[in-house]
Amino acid sequence: MSYKVAVVGATGNVGREMLGVLAERRFPASEVVGLASSRSVGVEVSFGDGTLKVKNLEHYDFSGTDICLMSAGGAVSKEWSPRIAKAGAIVIDNSSQWRMDREVPLIVPEVNAFALDGGFKKGIIANPNCSTAQLVVALKPLHDAATIKRVVVATYQSVSGAGKDAMDELFRQTRAVFVADAIEKEHFPKQIAFNVIPHIGDFLDSGYTKEEWKMMVEVQKILDPDILVNVTCVRVPVFIGHSEAVSIEFERPITAAQARSILREAPGVLVVDKHEDGGYVTPIEAAGEDATYVGRIRKDPTVDHGLSLWIVSDNLRKGAALNAVQIAECLINRKLLKRAA
Ligand SMILES: NC(=O)c1ccc[n+]([C@@H]2O[C@H](COP(=O)([O-])OP(=O)(O)OC[C@H]3O[C@@H](n4cnc5c(N)ncnc54)[C@H](OP(=O)(O)O)[C@@H]3O)[C@@H](O)[C@H]2O)c1
Repeated sequence: MSYKVAVVGATGNVGREMLGVLAERRFPASEVVGLASSRSVGVEVSFGDGTLKVKNLEHYDFSGTDICLMSAGGAVSKEWSPRIAKAGAIVIDNSSQWRMDREVPLIVPEVNAFALDGGFKKGIIANPNCSTAQLVVALKPLHDAATIKRVVVATYQSVSGAGKDAMDELFRQTRAVFVADAIEKEHFPKQIAFNVIPHIGDFLDSGYTKEEWKMMVEVQKILDPDILVNVTCVRVPVFIGHSEAVSIEFERPITAAQARSILREAPGVLVVDKHEDGGYVTPIEAAGEDATYVGRIRKDPTVDHGLSLWIVSDNLRKGAALNAVQIAECLINRKLLKRAA
């Protein structure tokens, strides 16, 4: 059985990675179509050993499409996902537009693939925020073992999480520093080169930012509504790979050694935790990889049952493209695709 797949946002950071992941995993596709805005019509994007010529979303007929992987932002998704679903395709969306909709499952396959069995009335399935995906992959097995009460997270998020224009800004500013040019800011509110910015997304009345709020509510929707979550999101001058410093408080006792061996068995997780120089993973090593790396696992002595750890993953892969393709694979494995091409 093979399926007709459309990738919307095929020229973007996530879309290009989606095409890469589909090819690498030999996704059973009879046809893959790359779509983007009118600006990109005819642009060639890599797919496997060849290329695809990008088509205009506005003029594309989705009848006959089985799966649509969307990564063109919230506004495009708001307008197009329902239309595409109405044409018969199942939409797997990367934007934040549908994540908290009660009729839209929010899925990280290693954690809650079962939630797909409850149905998706709107024909839309949501992919979580990039920082949420890697966090819940690591939290889930620990929650099963000792029940998490509270999680405190500080993120160190790469610029690719903000799209291709943001990557260009880090590159331009870095170059400008070296050649003593003026630093131009378009995407980020402060200089990102050789700096860190404790602000991702719009500010809310609570004082948190939208990115922080998304992580807090998404962890609860995917994992457990009773978990208390406190997040500070920080942008760092790294091109690819998000890192997280995480402190967890549990209901029941769990030692660092127990956590290490539980995480070693957990799907999607690789433990790299040697207590020596370089005995942990950094974003540069995680870029291009599928795993969520966990290290620096240690007892948090400030609470009764606490652990602290370090989580790193490629935000364009587990945080977006890989997770979306894994959801599509789950639909096939669970026989949830309405219509096979
Ligand atoms: N980057 C991450 O780590 C990450 C993780 C999780 C989720 N996401 C989400 O995934 C989405 C895409 O992110 P990205 O990083 O790939 O952004 P990006 O690099 O800026 O790419 C945006 C893509 O959307 C397309 N697009 C924009 N407006 C369009 C329109 N009106 N019609 C059709 N296509 C349109 C662009 O096409 P043109 O080239 O033609 O403009 C481009 O292909 C966002 O919703 C983002 O929040 C990103």
